[in-house]
Amino acid sequence: MDKKFKRTLVTCALPYANGPVHIGHLAGVYVPADIYVRYLRMKGEDVLFICGSDEHGVPITIKARKEGVTPQDIVDRYHNIIKNSFTGLGINFDIYSRTSSKVHEKNASEFFRKLYDDEKFITKETEQFFDPEAKTFLADRYITGTCPKCGNPNAYGDQCEKCGSTLSPEELIDPKSALSGSAPVKVKTKHWYLPLDQYEPWLRDWILEQHKEWKSNVYGQCKSWLDGGLQPRAVSRDLDWGVPVPVDGAEGKVLYVWFDAPIGYISNTQELLPQSWKKWWKADESRLVHFIGKDNIVFHCIVFPSMLKAYGDGYILPDNVPSNEFLNLEGDKISTSRNWAVWLNEYLEEFPGQEDVLRYVLCANAPETKDNDFTWKDFQQRNNSELVAIFGNFVNRAIVLTQKYFGGAVPANLKPEAMDREALAEIVPCKEALEKYIETFHFREALKEAMNIARIGNKYISDAEPWKVAKTDMDRTASILYTSLQICADLAIAFEPFLPFSAEKLRNILNINVAAGFDHRAGEGAPTVNFFRDGEARALHTLSSEASLTSEGKVDEKVTLSSTMPSDCTDPTLTWAELGSSELLAPGHKLGENGLLFAKIEDEVVEKQIAKLEAAKAANAAAAAEKAAREAAAHIEPQKPEVEFDDFGRMDIRTATVLAAERVPKTDKLLKLTIDTGIDTRTIVSGIAEYYSPEDMLGKQICILANLKPRTIRGIESKGMILMAKQGDGKMRFITPQEALVNGAQIG
Ligand code: 2FM
Ligand code: ZN
Repeated sequence: MDKKFKRTLVTCALPYANGPVHIGHLAGVYVPADIYVRYLRMKGEDVLFICGSDEHGVPITIKARKEGVTPQDIVDRYHNIIKNSFTGLGINFDIYSRTSSKVHEKNASEFFRKLYDDEKFITKETEQFFDPEAKTFLADRYITGTCPKCGNPNAYGDQCEKCGSTLSPEELIDPKSALSGSAPVKVKTKHWYLPLDQYEPWLRDWILEQHKEWKSNVYGQCKSWLDGGLQPRAVSRDLDWGVPVPVDGAEGKVLYVWFDAPIGYISNTQELLPQSWKKWWKADESRLVHFIGKDNIVFHCIVFPSMLKAYGDGYILPDNVPSNEFLNLEGDKISTSRNWAVWLNEYLEEFPGQEDVLRYVLCANAPETKDNDFTWKDFQQRNNSELVAIFGNFVNRAIVLTQKYFGGAVPANLKPEAMDREALAEIVPCKEALEKYIETFHFREALKEAMNIARIGNKYISDAEPWKVAKTDMDRTASILYTSLQICADLAIAFEPFLPFSAEKLRNILNINVAAGFDHRAGEGAPTVNFFRDGEARALHTLSSEASLTSEGKVDEKVTLSSTMPSDCTDPTLTWAELGSSELLAPGHKLGENGLLFAKIEDEVVEKQIAKLEAAKAANAAAAAEKAAREAAAHIEPQKPEVEFDDFGRMDIRTATVLAAERVPKTDKLLKLTIDTGIDTRTIVSGIAEYYSPEDMLGKQICILANLKPRTIRGIESKGMILMAKQGDGKMRFITPQEALVNGAQIG
């Protein structure tokens, strides 16, 4: 970390509380952020890790309406699911709060109010779509219609999910309100706007000149926004779910979700550290890093920084905004609405004890530079041929042989050879590369370096063959296992950021601790922190977190990161700095109990997951077909050109009854009907066999056009036509009088 910084504030995009978290979210944002935080903490840096649920916004209200519950019911449900599943995957934020909290409502409201009082907003009256039936303004998402680009009949007013085009409701063909189905009308409404155009010169300098080090996808997106010219952006909406706009004349208006959500980062810090939050947000020695998905770049790099700049008062700006591309699933875009996803809560239930496999695969396959694909086969393959066959196999061989030959204690290095030193020396460049990669947010490459340490170990033990050497030379065997165990200890350090559950298992096997830094979960004034992470939080040293701002506005820094050894700890405690050192485990150190780090994943397991996805696909296809049929049925043909009354008068339409019915041989569609018309008994050949069987028609009273010129169909003379009503989907039904009438009654 740059020397000017004393601490790092890491935020993760606040997930919308309208569904569980899926692998796309994890690979893009949360797994990399957690690796980064764990790594910095192991290096002894002071880090605060903030997240929470984003509980406002239109998708939440849409979901609530669909389910017939309140938006609060929806966010309560998903907030807890998301929060628990993050913990289940070892992602331990210092606080995971929510934007429906009181602290946040007050904070977001005050933030708006200050910008309003300081005249940082402009107002505009515009015409917005309004649903006259539901009597409410419609957010873009509430308007659906046909996409002008690809013809998708179910495009939203802000986006077509089929072709990915960004749209405005005006562009939709045949727009409809998603609430009532009625055609929306335009009504005038007033809103507050942040004039982003005024911040453009400053943003150009701050991002394009001062942050050339940002990842190219982030920098590139910012540049194209800035080159395209920024426009004022509305920060309020006509909605009844959100933080009310705190000024007079704003009834029925709330803060736009993208105005209030990033303020949530600040609110959540305040909730955790009511006295000392400012040292994280308003001190130049604090470094702010936002981990986000690529669809959030503009909000975190342009909109939120402009809000903070407008607010002033010493708020720091992000030093970096690492963002990944998207992860696809089995070759298709992840989609919540199509249930095309691997949901974290379900994974945790279905793969207990295998949390790290998911962390590993998502990091190894992270969409860091381009969109990537998650497949269950790759998941199985990476587990079986990397985690099990390389990492797990090496550790298991080293431990089992140490138990067999040396009673489970680290042997002395009695007969060292060059190959031992060379193997250990190879770890040093891995460590350096790993650090460089993590510090530049290239987690996939960093993980490869950690895995290379396991590869070094595996190759070393295979080449040294202690199981053979033991037959003739126990001193040399001692050195081989001594060296192998040092590499195991290196792995316990190197993998802590990536695979915390397995690193903990490995520490237990090796009977060691690893200094994993302290977190702030206990909040302010907590006397102790878990500095040495050996699976349990233990009272280790006192942290005075009561840092406060002095009257001159400087941070009065009382927090010191002590590396005091815990008094109750007799096992070796390793630090990140020791990774790659020559002796991590001293001869004589007693190992713990062995256990398998990773288990093989069988074909049936992934096949079951693939079948689950296929079932989701089939259900989607069925739902789509049903919807299409419903919509086609509802399609109403436009009216035909006008006719004169006389044209109609020439048609002789009457009631009649079917006396006999039979299929016309060798046809699928035709029925031969014998009809009592009240005038005569005659034959009509009708193309209704697709919809009615002869039995269905027998005895039915129908309506016919009696004076249609006779035609011969399949050799049968047909006199007249049966009147049928035809729906948009082609389905036909005969017309019958509401009550039985005499045959031959004239219709007109
Ligand atoms: O895209 C999303 O999921 C948003 N809920 C992220 C919000 S990030 C922040 F600004 F709160
Ligand atoms: Zn489209």
